[in-house]
Amino acid sequence: MRLKSVLAASVAALAFAPLAHAEPQAEVLHWWTSGGEAKSVAVLQQEFAARGGKWTDMPVAGGGGDAAMTALRARVLSGNAPTAVQLKGPAIQEWFEEGVLADISAVADAQGWAAVLPASIAGHMKCGDIWCAAPVNVHRVDWIWANKALLDKHGIAMPTTWDEFNAAADKLKAAGVTPLAHGGQAWQDATVFETVVLGLGGADFYRKALVDLDKDALTSDTMVKAFDQMRTLRGYVDANFSGREWNLATAMVMNGEAAFQIMGDWAKGEFVAAGKVPGTDFLCASTPGDGYLYNVDSFAMFKVDGADKIEGQNLLAELIVGQNFQKVFNMNKGSIPARTDVALDDFDACAKLSAADMGASSAGGSLLPSYAHGMALRGAQAGAITDTVTAHFNSDMSSADAVKMLAEAVANSM
Ligand code: GAL
Repeated sequence: MRLKSVLAASVAALAFAPLAHAEPQAEVLHWWTSGGEAKSVAVLQQEFAARGGKWTDMPVAGGGGDAAMTALRARVLSGNAPTAVQLKGPAIQEWFEEGVLADISAVADAQGWAAVLPASIAGHMKCGDIWCAAPVNVHRVDWIWANKALLDKHGIAMPTTWDEFNAAADKLKAAGVTPLAHGGQAWQDATVFETVVLGLGGADFYRKALVDLDKDALTSDTMVKAFDQMRTLRGYVDANFSGREWNLATAMVMNGEAAFQIMGDWAKGEFVAAGKVPGTDFLCASTPGDGYLYNVDSFAMFKVDGADKIEGQNLLAELIVGQNFQKVFNMNKGSIPARTDVALDDFDACAKLSAADMGASSAGGSLLPSYAHGMALRGAQAGAITDTVTAHFNSDMSSADAVKMLAEAVANSM
């Protein structure tokens, strides 16, 4: 009898104690390893620690997150998913369909996410009726960054059309300056490509081609022109571009080794982390053409066992959408808050431009998901486009052949 009651007491303690005293734990998989990115994610680590959380870092280097996503798949397949994962766009839904994502609706409802997030962002964070991811920011992809001193020296203004860009680049090249800092990795080629498609084709064309995958758009003369422009850009990169990480390309602009970079505003995070000042040391402008390509970073929580891990997931979700985190993190990261109620007074002019353009694009129907950053398409379709873009960029393939390959690759990916 005595033994039985001791056992019963222990079972009761086991059932209740962990919930009451669970120390929040989180193993967090992300790809934020560059200077600006590391400074940004440190804000979350600090806030988590300040609330008693124990953070186990799982950084997987590689811009754009391809390597991180490979690591994620391996972990989930081995039945050992990380607690929280940097995951975004349709990939969230794809993982949800595999049955491995946790429901974070309790936190979302308690914090009133529906009232503070724009509907377009909230849509990406929901899986059916439940909240399955927490948004961190809004990155804009269609940006050109420039070294101000170099442009001044050569009497060049920030280009507002692709023709102006080409003219500026020709002038710089003739003067012995590398016009375009670029990292030859597939996702970086894709990043440049989607800004060219938007700029040359306009918002409706971008949507038809890279969101709806409309065959006529994919094989159109406009798409041929986009590949022509990619070939022109290929002539503006230096000889060592192949395989270069994006942040090293940003450093080339910072150090005056190259004039421009076409990259999302995580590049601004690098400039700022290096103490560079927008408008003084470097310039930001949207790539030529109308529209806004958005890329929303978010974290999804995977189904895990253990009260401490579940506590960790809830705490992370709460902190991520918290007002202070959204402000401080995004000032470091180069992006703008996902929440609409965070004042931008302390943000720089590039961030203010991003917010103004996002509002105008949303009103004008040209706020568009970035395909290159996993916001528009499922993995297979996005991969088919990127394979074509990078095959063309790294060979002497004609634009006509590229368009043919594009349509076939997309059809085969369906
Ligand atoms: C993007 C991501 C950004 C940034 C970039 C470079 O896909 O959304 O947060 O880190 O990759 O790694």
